[in-house]
Amino acid sequence: MSTSTARSTPGSILITNIGELSTQDETRGRTVLQDAAVVFEGERISWIGAAADAPPADEMVDAGGRAGLPGWVDSHTHLVFAGDRGAEFEARMAGESYAAGGIAVTTEATRAATDYDLTRLLLARVAEAAAGGTTYLETKTGYGLNVEEERRHARIASTVANQVTYLGAHLVPAGADAEDYTDLVCTGMLEAVLPYVQWADVFCETGAFTEDQSRRVLQAGRDAGLGLRVHGNQLGHGAGVRLAVEFGAASVDHVNHLTDDDVAALAGTWTQWNDAGPESDGTPGTVATCLPACDLSTRAPLAPARKLLDAGVQVALASNCNPGTSYTSSMNFCVATAVLQMGLTVQEALRAATFGGALALRVHTGQDRDGQRAVGSLAVGHRADLQLLNAPSAAHLAYRPGMPLTGAVWRAGQRLGLPPR
Ligand code: NIG
Repeated sequence: MSTSTARSTPGSILITNIGELSTQDETRGRTVLQDAAVVFEGERISWIGAAADAPPADEMVDAGGRAGLPGWVDSHTHLVFAGDRGAEFEARMAGESYAAGGIAVTTEATRAATDYDLTRLLLARVAEAAAGGTTYLETKTGYGLNVEEERRHARIASTVANQVTYLGAHLVPAGADAEDYTDLVCTGMLEAVLPYVQWADVFCETGAFTEDQSRRVLQAGRDAGLGLRVHGNQLGHGAGVRLAVEFGAASVDHVNHLTDDDVAALAGTWTQWNDAGPESDGTPGTVATCLPACDLSTRAPLAPARKLLDAGVQVALASNCNPGTSYTSSMNFCVATAVLQMGLTVQEALRAATFGGALALRVHTGQDRDGQRAVGSLAVGHRADLQLLNAPSAAHLAYRPGMPLTGAVWRAGQRLGLPPR
C-alpha cells in the first residue's frame, strides 16, 4: 500500500520506479520515459509521467527500475484448433516444402473436438500468450470449412478472443468444387458466422483461393459490414497485396514476396495518415503484418519489414500462432527476430508489436467517451495493459533472446498470475 497521506482514488494502482517506460504514445513528443510511473483506475490508465510527480494511489507496486511497455497486441492468430502437426514440421525441417494442404489435417482434428475441448484448448492458448505479455489478441476461424463448423468455431472464439476473423476461405475442402465452395463462403457460411465476427479474411494464394475467388470473398465480407484482412504474398508473388489495397483492407498479412509495386501500393495507402502525424484520427491505410515466427518455421524468406518501414508503410508484428506454420504465441520471440534478423531497431519492433497490431485491428485510438478504449500504447484514457520486463530496458528482448523476461502483466487493469519461473 502507498504510504502517502494525500487522497487516492479507491482501487487505483500506482506502478512506480519504472526505469524505462516505452509508451508508444507519439502524441507526447517522446515515446520513451525514464524513471516513470503509471496509475491505473479500474480498466483505464488515469495518469502517466515522472515517478517523482506521481499522485498517491490505493495500492503501489515498485517496479524496481525494471522496463515497462504496453502489453503485446497480437493481431494474427489461429487458436481454434485441435490436433498436432509435429510430424509435418519435422518433415519440413528435413526438406519437405510447406503447402497449404496441411490445413486439412487440422480441420479433421478440429471438427472431431467437442465444444468443451475446443474452449479449453483456446483458453489455455490465450493464457499462454498472456503469460508472455500479450494482453489483446485476434483469432480466426478457418479449420471448420463447413457452415456448422465455421459457425461453431466463430462462436467459441468470440467467447475468449478480443476480436474474431472469419476465414472460411482458408482452404477449399477436399472433394469440394472451388467455385461452389467460394459461393458458400460468400453466402450461407458468412451469414452463419456473422453474429460472432468483426472481420472477413481470405487466403489468396496458389493452392488456396485465386484472385477472382478472393475478390468475391472480400466483396461479400464488405457487403455484410465486416472489416477486411487478407492472407497475401506468403508463398509467392500474387494478388494479395493488390486486392488488400483495392478493398481498403485493414491489413495484409505474411507479405514475404513483394514487388516494388506492392510496396509502393501499400505506402500509398498511408500517405495521408502519415502526413497528419500522430494525432491523426483519419482512417488508417493497410497495415503490412509480418509474421517472423512463421517465416522461420517454414524456412521462408523473412518479410521485408525494413523496406516497408522505409517506404512509409505501417508495419505490425504478430505471432500467427497455428499448428501448421507457427506454433508459438511468443511475441518476445517475434520482436527479437525482427531486431536481430529483419533490421528493425528495438523501438521499431516494439511499436510494430504493440501500436502496429492495434492499428491493424483498428483499436489504436479510443478514449473515455467514445465506447472503444485504445490498446497498444500507454496514455491517459487508454486500456491499462502493461508489462514489466525482468530487465532494465526493452533492448534486452533482443539482447537476451529466448530468456524469460516477462516479469508482470496487467490486462485491463488486472494483474495476471504468471506461472512461476
Ligand atoms: O497463416 N497461411 C495460411 N494459414 C496459416 C497456416 C495454417 C496451417 O498450415 O494450418 C498461416 O500460416
